[in-house]
Amino acid sequence: MTTPVTKVVIPAAGLGTRFLPATKAMPKEMLPVVDKPAIQYVVEEAVDAGLVDVLVVTGRNKHALANHFDRVTELEQALELKGDGHRLKMVHASTGLAEMHYVRQGDPKGLGHAVLRAKMHVGHQPFAVMLGDDLIDARDTLLTKMLEVQEHKQASIIALMEVGPSQAHLYGIASVENTDETDVVHITGLVEKPEPGTQPSNYAIIGRYVLMPEVFDVLENTAPGKGGEIQLTDALATLVAQPDLAGGVYGVIFRGRRYDTGDRLDYIKAIIRLASDREDLGPDLRPWIKEFAEGL
Ligand code: UTP
Repeated sequence: MTTPVTKVVIPAAGLGTRFLPATKAMPKEMLPVVDKPAIQYVVEEAVDAGLVDVLVVTGRNKHALANHFDRVTELEQALELKGDGHRLKMVHASTGLAEMHYVRQGDPKGLGHAVLRAKMHVGHQPFAVMLGDDLIDARDTLLTKMLEVQEHKQASIIALMEVGPSQAHLYGIASVENTDETDVVHITGLVEKPEPGTQPSNYAIIGRYVLMPEVFDVLENTAPGKGGEIQLTDALATLVAQPDLAGGVYGVIFRGRRYDTGDRLDYIKAIIRLASDREDLGPDLRPWIKEFAEGL
């Protein structure tokens, strides 16, 4: 019998050094993308895929994250008094979204270490990992497809995106072979941030995973890798090398819109893209963007 995925882990304990000084006192997952913090988009994506049990792995600035998904009575009362039902609804939307849980990472020893902190909460069942600074456009579903592939393969699933050769050294890169399903590949090797020019392919790992629980035991025995951090990619490479352990690893190739909001340029692009497509902001913003671009 197969165990369905019900839990999501969102690691949000990184130092966010690429975004300093904005991230000095605030996690990068709380940076606003138009009018919602990045992590709210990620939780909404989880809920849209049917996953409502969310564990956030937090770092030194935990409070901003936890407060965002909690009730703020004074604010609700003030909006009620003003009769501002529209904004009240928006405030409620983040509170009632999902069943939120939090665990501290302690020292930020890497993404693999952050995921390992979820072991007690997840138990022995497959689970999703979604990076809190990695946005997948809500119009381009990815997680639902990954959950379907996980269900029929009973293996770990990672999301992949094609990147240019000059970008490969910034990502975990996968060696792949085709399966009989379009955009589903079998992973034959993984390397974290390869030296420029040495990447085995252009398929980069992006921030969505559906993992078999055996990954926790592997992570416990994974030594620090690139940057002295415990790398999730290294643990996944062990699952690739030992397919008898938990069914190996497959990739779902994503061809939609994705934004790494931990990167300043991608963050700006995300805001422009999402705001210009919105009904409330787009009609005023789009002509301004055109005029601005003509003046460049
Ligand atoms: P990143 O490498 O993007 O995060 O990690 P970072 O280290 O905060 O980024 P920079 O390079 O310093 O700007 C990917 C994801 O893993 C989480 C981050 O919060 C992010 O969602 N992470 C990373 C942790 O939770 N703990 C860690 O120790 C490292």
